[in-house]
Amino acid sequence: MTLTRRVENVKGLHGSLRVPGDKSASHRALMISALASGPSTIEGLSPGEDVASTSVIVQQLGARRVDEGARVTVVGPENGLCVSDHELNCGNSGTTMRLLCGMVSAIEGTHHLVGDPSLSRRPMDRVATPLTLMGATVRGEGHRLNAPLEVDGSSSLRGIDYRVPTPSAQVKSAILLAGLRAEGQTIVREDLRTRTTTEDMLTSAGISVIRADDALGRIVTLSPGRPRATHWRIPGDPSQAAFFCVLGAIHDDAHIEVLDVDVAEERLGFVTVLQRMGASLRRESREDRPALVVESSKLTATEIHSREIPSVDEVPVLAIAAAAARGVSAFRDMGELRVKESDRFKGSMMLASLVGCRVWNEGDDFFIDGLGSARAFADFSVEAGLDHRIVMSAAVAGIAGSGCSILGAETVASSYPHFFDDLDALA
Ligand code: S3P
Repeated sequence: MTLTRRVENVKGLHGSLRVPGDKSASHRALMISALASGPSTIEGLSPGEDVASTSVIVQQLGARRVDEGARVTVVGPENGLCVSDHELNCGNSGTTMRLLCGMVSAIEGTHHLVGDPSLSRRPMDRVATPLTLMGATVRGEGHRLNAPLEVDGSSSLRGIDYRVPTPSAQVKSAILLAGLRAEGQTIVREDLRTRTTTEDMLTSAGISVIRADDALGRIVTLSPGRPRATHWRIPGDPSQAAFFCVLGAIHDDAHIEVLDVDVAEERLGFVTVLQRMGASLRRESREDRPALVVESSKLTATEIHSREIPSVDEVPVLAIAAAAARGVSAFRDMGELRVKESDRFKGSMMLASLVGCRVWNEGDDFFIDGLGSARAFADFSVEAGLDHRIVMSAAVAGIAGSGCSILGAETVASSYPHFFDDLDALA
């Protein structure tokens, strides 16, 4: 059912909150635990639907899940995961589908992967190409290999040495997960350092993963092996914290503390951008864990290159920051936004235009002429287009501005089911 949610301007925003456990780490905790033998435990698993899709799938492949309060136990089968007779439904989640392609490439049999209409439009050739070089077969629709997919897994994969053409943590991770069961080492080269969640978590599970950094990029070398059962503690998702950081900065009466956030370098590009725009935003420590603290600020325009924000997840909400800033902000080399849960290139420009800004693009760059204050935002209506980050970005604009109506707001549950409750608590 499609719901329209009305969001009103809120006068003051004061308080602290915890955002859901990091989505990237949550998917990987489930997958790596399922690949291990015996019980692993997970604290802080994301409650979103994307991660629930991964959870159902690892159980279809043979793992067992037991929940006790907030603690999740995943028991990996001693003899390893097996092909399922059923479709593996990845829902809205690109991370599930891409990482799963890598995982099942090493499991003998034909695996059927499906997704919702948004996921079925996203390109899967970027994972199919390296996995085919390793010895798996991936079939999909059209030349970009859209879902539904069929993956023929093999127990005799070969390690490869592969340069990822478009920086992508999902592609890197799919290759590394397949490499766990390949013959010989698997080497992934990236020209831009993407998030290291897979490398870090595999290392914690006893796998040899060696990293060598050069100017901007990185070479990752993995030796095959079986991850060992592990205890995972998952901190808050920085890409969710970003919504509150922008909200606090553009709202005229705010002090917000986002507690227990993952502060890995590759994830915090948005903090640097907001600070450069003049946001009163800083990293602090609360109860011995990193927190992000933000207060009402006057923002000025900036130039943002996609290199600063690998994965570009935070760009739609930074477009709202740009809309509230004084001057013209330039977003450079943002083509990758077009193949996210929705076309976020169009979506980011659309949100800024709906609040009243002049926006335009030149190729893969787009520009927003900010209004100087969120108080000048117009009331607007937007369709979410099965994209959780468009819902949350619109809500940020509506709360700091003059309200908005969001059609399809329920899509927020893919990553952050309690988003609107958390906003209400701050208000
Ligand atoms: C993710 C990687 C990113 C990001 C996505 C989660 C991951 O995509 O957009 O939300 O968990 O690996 P890329 O593969 O484009 O880096």
